[in-house]
Amino acid sequence: MYVDLRKEDGVAVLTIDRPEALNAMNVDMLAELRETIEQVEGDDDILVLVVTGTGKAFIAGADIAHMKDFSSRQAKEWSEYGQDTVGMLEKMKKPVIAAVNGYALGGGTELAMACDIRVASDKAVFGQPEVKLGMIAGFGGTQRLPRLVGPGKAKEMLFTGDHYDAQAAYEMGLVNKVVSADELMDYCLDMAKRIASCGKLAVRLSKEAVDHGQEMDLEKALHLESSLYAVVFSTDEPCEGCGAFLEKREPKWTSS
Ligand code: CAA
Repeated sequence: MYVDLRKEDGVAVLTIDRPEALNAMNVDMLAELRETIEQVEGDDDILVLVVTGTGKAFIAGADIAHMKDFSSRQAKEWSEYGQDTVGMLEKMKKPVIAAVNGYALGGGTELAMACDIRVASDKAVFGQPEVKLGMIAGFGGTQRLPRLVGPGKAKEMLFTGDHYDAQAAYEMGLVNKVVSADELMDYCLDMAKRIASCGKLAVRLSKEAVDHGQEMDLEKALHLESSLYAVVFSTDEPCEGCGAFLEKREPKWTSS
Protein backbone atom coordinates (compact mmCIF):
# COMPACT_ATOMS: atom_id res chain seq x y z
CA MET A 1 0.00 0.00 0.00
CA TYR A 2 1.43 3.36 -1.06
CA VAL A 3 -1.47 5.59 -0.06
CA ASP A 4 -2.93 6.03 3.41
CA LEU A 5 -6.24 7.79 4.09
CA ARG A 6 -7.51 8.97 7.46
CA LYS A 7 -10.52 11.15 8.16
CA GLU A 8 -11.72 13.16 11.12
CA ASP A 9 -14.20 16.01 11.55
CA GLY A 10 -14.95 16.41 7.85
CA VAL A 11 -11.27 16.49 6.84
CA ALA A 12 -9.39 13.62 5.21
CA VAL A 13 -5.60 13.34 5.12
CA LEU A 14 -4.16 11.40 2.19
CA THR A 15 -0.52 10.44 2.81
CA ILE A 16 1.77 9.23 0.05
CA ASP A 17 3.73 6.46 1.72
CA ARG A 18 6.77 5.05 -0.05
CA PRO A 19 9.53 6.57 2.06
CA GLU A 20 12.21 4.11 0.92
CA ALA A 21 12.06 5.78 -2.54
CA LEU A 22 11.21 9.28 -1.24
CA ASN A 23 7.58 8.64 -2.29
CA ALA A 24 8.49 8.37 -5.98
CA MET A 25 5.40 7.58 -8.04
CA ASN A 26 5.08 4.19 -9.71
CA VAL A 27 2.14 2.58 -11.53
CA ASP A 28 0.71 0.92 -8.41
CA MET A 29 0.87 4.18 -6.46
CA LEU A 30 -0.98 6.06 -9.21
CA ALA A 31 -3.65 3.34 -9.29
CA GLU A 32 -4.08 3.60 -5.51
CA LEU A 33 -4.18 7.38 -5.72
CA ARG A 34 -6.97 7.21 -8.28
CA GLU A 35 -8.99 4.79 -6.14
CA THR A 36 -8.50 6.95 -3.05
CA ILE A 37 -9.49 10.15 -4.86
CA GLU A 38 -12.70 8.45 -6.02
CA GLN A 39 -13.35 7.21 -2.48
CA VAL A 40 -12.89 10.71 -1.04
CA GLU A 41 -15.08 12.30 -3.71
CA GLY A 42 -17.87 9.80 -2.99
CA ASP A 43 -17.74 10.18 0.81
CA ASP A 44 -20.22 12.84 1.96
CA ASP A 45 -18.54 12.97 5.39
CA ILE A 46 -15.35 14.36 3.80
CA LEU A 47 -15.50 18.08 3.01
CA VAL A 48 -11.81 18.91 2.51
CA LEU A 49 -8.79 16.82 1.50
CA VAL A 50 -5.21 17.41 2.67
CA VAL A 51 -2.44 15.66 0.71
CA THR A 52 1.00 15.07 2.22
CA GLY A 53 3.93 12.62 2.20
CA THR A 54 5.71 10.35 4.68
CA GLY A 55 9.28 11.12 5.75
CA LYS A 56 11.54 13.71 4.17
CA ALA A 57 9.70 13.86 0.84
CA PHE A 58 6.31 15.00 -0.38
CA ILE A 59 6.94 13.19 -3.69
CA ALA A 60 10.45 13.07 -5.25
CA GLY A 61 8.93 12.69 -8.72
CA ALA A 62 8.00 9.83 -10.95
CA ASP A 63 9.95 6.61 -10.41
CA ILE A 64 13.17 7.04 -12.39
CA ALA A 65 13.85 3.29 -12.61
CA HIS A 66 10.40 2.79 -14.14
CA MET A 67 11.02 5.36 -16.90
CA LYS A 68 14.60 4.51 -17.84
CA ASP A 69 13.91 2.17 -20.78
CA PHE A 70 10.57 3.58 -21.96
CA SER A 71 9.74 3.44 -25.65
CA SER A 72 8.19 6.60 -27.05
CA ARG A 73 4.75 4.94 -26.89
CA GLN A 74 5.20 3.86 -23.25
CA ALA A 75 6.33 7.41 -22.39
CA LYS A 76 3.15 8.87 -23.91
CA GLU A 77 0.95 6.39 -22.01
CA TRP A 78 2.76 7.13 -18.73
CA SER A 79 2.50 10.88 -19.24
CA GLU A 80 -1.21 10.63 -20.03
CA TYR A 81 -1.85 8.34 -17.06
CA GLY A 82 0.00 10.72 -14.72
CA GLN A 83 -1.70 13.80 -16.19
CA ASP A 84 -5.08 12.15 -15.80
CA THR A 85 -4.34 11.15 -12.20
CA VAL A 86 -3.22 14.59 -11.03
CA GLY A 87 -6.11 15.96 -13.12
CA MET A 88 -8.50 13.89 -10.97
CA LEU A 89 -7.23 15.81 -7.92
CA GLU A 90 -7.63 19.13 -9.70
CA LYS A 91 -11.17 18.27 -10.81
CA MET A 92 -12.37 17.17 -7.37
CA LYS A 93 -15.45 19.06 -6.22
CA LYS A 94 -13.95 19.27 -2.73
CA PRO A 95 -11.09 21.63 -1.87
CA VAL A 96 -7.65 20.02 -1.82
CA ILE A 97 -4.73 21.41 0.21
CA ALA A 98 -1.18 20.20 -0.48
CA ALA A 99 0.82 20.06 2.76
CA VAL A 100 4.26 19.96 1.16
CA ASN A 101 6.48 18.45 3.84
CA GLY A 102 9.74 17.92 1.93
CA TYR A 103 11.08 17.17 -1.55
CA ALA A 104 8.44 17.96 -4.19
CA LEU A 105 10.40 17.35 -7.37
CA GLY A 106 9.21 16.61 -10.91
CA GLY A 107 5.88 14.83 -10.53
CA GLY A 108 5.81 16.04 -6.89
CA THR A 109 5.72 19.71 -7.87
CA GLU A 110 3.27 18.73 -10.61
CA LEU A 111 0.89 16.98 -8.21
CA ALA A 112 1.11 19.88 -5.74
CA MET A 113 0.18 22.30 -8.54
CA ALA A 114 -3.00 20.30 -9.21
CA CYS A 115 -4.12 20.98 -5.62
CA ASP A 116 -6.15 24.11 -4.85
CA ILE A 117 -3.87 25.48 -2.12
CA ARG A 118 -0.21 24.74 -1.38
CA VAL A 119 1.33 25.16 2.07
CA ALA A 120 5.04 24.37 2.36
CA SER A 121 7.12 23.35 5.33
CA ASP A 122 10.38 25.30 5.58
CA LYS A 123 12.05 21.99 4.66
CA ALA A 124 10.18 21.70 1.33
CA VAL A 125 12.15 21.72 -1.91
CA PHE A 126 10.51 22.29 -5.30
CA GLY A 127 11.78 21.81 -8.82
CA GLN A 128 11.28 20.32 -12.26
CA PRO A 129 14.58 18.43 -12.62
CA GLU A 130 13.45 16.33 -15.60
CA VAL A 131 15.91 17.98 -18.03
CA LYS A 132 18.77 16.69 -15.86
CA LEU A 133 17.43 13.20 -16.66
CA GLY A 134 17.17 14.00 -20.38
CA MET A 135 13.38 14.24 -20.38
CA ILE A 136 10.72 16.89 -19.98
CA ALA A 137 8.07 17.30 -17.29
CA GLY A 138 5.21 14.98 -18.19
CA PHE A 139 2.56 15.26 -15.48
CA GLY A 140 1.43 18.80 -16.35
CA GLY A 141 4.50 20.81 -15.28
CA THR A 142 5.07 22.58 -18.60
CA GLN A 143 1.47 23.85 -18.50
CA ARG A 144 0.46 24.45 -14.85
CA LEU A 145 3.79 26.00 -13.83
CA PRO A 146 3.67 28.97 -16.28
CA ARG A 147 0.00 29.50 -15.38
CA LEU A 148 0.95 29.73 -11.69
CA VAL A 149 4.27 31.59 -11.72
CA GLY A 150 4.42 33.15 -15.21
CA PRO A 151 6.33 31.90 -18.25
CA GLY A 152 9.73 33.46 -17.37
CA LYS A 153 10.12 31.80 -13.97
CA ALA A 154 8.55 28.57 -15.25
CA LYS A 155 11.04 28.39 -18.11
CA GLU A 156 13.92 29.02 -15.70
CA MET A 157 12.74 26.09 -13.56
CA LEU A 158 12.03 23.81 -16.52
CA PHE A 159 15.29 24.63 -18.38
CA THR A 160 17.73 24.49 -15.42
CA GLY A 161 16.17 21.70 -13.35
CA ASP A 162 17.31 23.67 -10.27
CA HIS A 163 15.93 23.07 -6.78
CA TYR A 164 14.04 25.92 -5.06
CA ASP A 165 13.58 26.16 -1.33
CA ALA A 166 10.20 26.93 0.25
CA GLN A 167 10.89 30.65 0.55
CA ALA A 168 11.83 30.92 -3.14
CA ALA A 169 8.67 28.96 -4.03
CA TYR A 170 6.65 31.40 -1.93
CA GLU A 171 8.26 34.43 -3.54
CA MET A 172 7.41 33.20 -7.05
CA GLY A 173 3.79 32.42 -6.09
CA LEU A 174 4.12 28.65 -6.26
CA VAL A 175 3.01 28.23 -2.63
CA ASN A 176 0.50 30.17 -0.53
CA LYS A 177 2.41 30.03 2.75
CA VAL A 178 5.58 28.70 4.38
CA VAL A 179 5.42 27.38 7.95
CA SER A 180 7.87 25.48 10.13
CA ALA A 181 7.98 21.71 9.64
CA ASP A 182 6.51 21.20 13.13
CA GLU A 183 3.54 23.43 12.36
CA LEU A 184 2.74 22.15 8.86
CA MET A 185 -0.01 19.62 9.58
CA ASP A 186 -1.66 21.70 12.33
CA TYR A 187 -1.70 24.72 10.03
CA CYS A 188 -3.21 22.74 7.12
CA LEU A 189 -5.75 20.91 9.30
CA ASP A 190 -6.83 24.18 10.87
CA MET A 191 -7.30 25.74 7.42
CA ALA A 192 -9.17 22.63 6.25
CA LYS A 193 -11.49 22.79 9.28
CA ARG A 194 -12.18 26.48 8.69
CA ILE A 195 -13.14 25.66 5.09
CA ALA A 196 -15.24 22.69 6.27
CA SER A 197 -17.17 24.99 8.64
CA CYS A 198 -18.37 27.17 5.74
CA GLY A 199 -21.37 26.59 3.49
CA LYS A 200 -20.74 23.29 1.65
CA LEU A 201 -22.27 24.32 -1.64
CA ALA A 202 -20.78 27.83 -1.37
CA VAL A 203 -17.25 26.39 -1.08
CA ARG A 204 -17.87 23.93 -3.92
CA LEU A 205 -19.22 26.63 -6.24
CA SER A 206 -16.41 29.03 -5.32
CA LYS A 207 -13.98 26.38 -6.57
CA GLU A 208 -16.02 25.81 -9.70
CA ALA A 209 -16.21 29.55 -10.44
CA VAL A 210 -12.43 30.01 -10.16
CA ASP A 211 -11.50 26.84 -12.08
CA HIS A 212 -13.95 27.21 -14.95
CA GLY A 213 -13.79 31.00 -15.04
CA GLN A 214 -10.04 30.92 -15.71
CA GLU A 215 -10.68 29.24 -19.05
CA MET A 216 -13.08 32.03 -20.16
CA ASP A 217 -12.83 35.70 -21.04
CA LEU A 218 -13.83 38.05 -18.21
CA GLU A 219 -17.32 38.77 -19.52
CA LYS A 220 -18.25 35.09 -19.78
CA ALA A 221 -16.56 34.34 -16.46
CA LEU A 222 -18.60 37.05 -14.71
CA HIS A 223 -21.72 35.52 -16.24
CA LEU A 224 -20.63 32.16 -14.80
CA GLU A 225 -20.21 33.81 -11.38
CA SER A 226 -23.70 35.32 -11.36
CA SER A 227 -25.19 32.00 -12.54
CA LEU A 228 -23.48 30.13 -9.71
CA TYR A 229 -24.51 32.91 -7.28
CA ALA A 230 -28.09 32.17 -8.34
CA VAL A 231 -27.55 28.42 -7.91
CA VAL A 232 -26.47 28.84 -4.30
CA PHE A 233 -29.59 30.94 -3.64
CA SER A 234 -31.75 28.10 -4.96
CA THR A 235 -30.82 26.26 -1.73
CA ASP A 236 -31.37 27.24 1.90
CA GLU A 237 -27.63 27.79 2.52
CA PRO A 238 -27.57 31.61 2.18
CA CYS A 239 -30.71 31.97 4.32
CA GLU A 240 -29.13 29.81 7.04
CA GLY A 241 -25.74 31.56 6.79
CA CYS A 242 -27.18 35.07 6.87
CA GLY A 243 -29.72 34.08 9.56
CA ALA A 244 -26.98 32.64 11.78
CA PHE A 245 -24.94 35.85 11.41
CA LEU A 246 -27.90 38.05 12.31
CA GLU A 247 -28.90 35.82 15.24
CA LYS A 248 -25.26 35.60 16.43
CA ARG A 249 -25.13 31.79 16.33
CA GLU A 250 -23.22 29.12 14.40
CA PRO A 251 -24.86 28.09 11.10
CA LYS A 252 -26.25 24.59 10.66
CA TRP A 253 -25.66 23.56 7.07
CA THR A 254 -27.93 21.02 5.48
CA SER A 255 -27.33 21.22 1.70
CA SER A 256 -24.41 19.46 0.01
N1 CAA B 1 12.58 7.68 -8.50
C1 CAA B 1 13.05 6.53 -7.97
N2 CAA B 1 13.76 6.47 -6.84
C2 CAA B 1 14.02 7.65 -6.20
C3 CAA B 1 13.55 8.86 -6.70
C4 CAA B 1 12.79 8.86 -7.90
N3 CAA B 1 12.28 9.97 -8.43
N4 CAA B 1 13.97 9.85 -5.86
C5 CAA B 1 14.66 9.24 -4.88
N5 CAA B 1 14.68 7.91 -5.08
C6 CAA B 1 15.34 6.88 -4.25
C7 CAA B 1 16.84 6.88 -4.42
O1 CAA B 1 17.22 6.16 -5.58
C8 CAA B 1 17.28 6.23 -3.13
O2 CAA B 1 17.09 4.85 -3.23
P1 CAA B 1 18.21 3.83 -2.62
O3 CAA B 1 18.21 4.11 -1.14
O4 CAA B 1 17.66 2.50 -2.96
O5 CAA B 1 19.51 4.17 -3.27
C9 CAA B 1 16.25 6.74 -2.12
O6 CAA B 1 15.14 7.20 -2.88
C10 CAA B 1 16.77 7.92 -1.30
O7 CAA B 1 17.21 8.90 -2.23
P2 CAA B 1 18.67 9.59 -2.12
O8 CAA B 1 19.66 8.66 -1.51
O9 CAA B 1 18.99 10.14 -3.47
O10 CAA B 1 18.35 10.76 -1.08
P3 CAA B 1 19.08 12.16 -0.94
O11 CAA B 1 18.57 12.77 0.31
O12 CAA B 1 20.56 12.02 -1.11
O13 CAA B 1 18.57 13.04 -2.20
C11 CAA B 1 16.89 13.90 -3.71
C12 CAA B 1 17.24 13.41 -2.28
C13 CAA B 1 17.64 15.21 -3.99
C14 CAA B 1 15.41 14.13 -3.77
C15 CAA B 1 17.35 12.82 -4.74
O14 CAA B 1 16.83 11.56 -4.33
C16 CAA B 1 16.86 13.08 -6.14
O15 CAA B 1 17.39 13.94 -6.82
N6 CAA B 1 15.83 12.32 -6.58
C17 CAA B 1 15.33 12.40 -7.94
C18 CAA B 1 14.43 13.60 -8.12
C19 CAA B 1 13.98 13.73 -9.55
O16 CAA B 1 14.79 13.85 -10.46
N7 CAA B 1 12.66 13.73 -9.77
C20 CAA B 1 12.07 13.87 -11.07
C21 CAA B 1 11.71 12.53 -11.63
S1 CAA B 1 11.21 12.64 -13.30
C22 CAA B 1 9.56 13.04 -13.24
O17 CAA B 1 8.98 13.25 -12.21
C23 CAA B 1 8.96 13.11 -14.62
C24 CAA B 1 7.56 13.53 -14.70
O18 CAA B 1 7.21 14.64 -15.00
C25 CAA B 1 6.51 12.57 -14.48
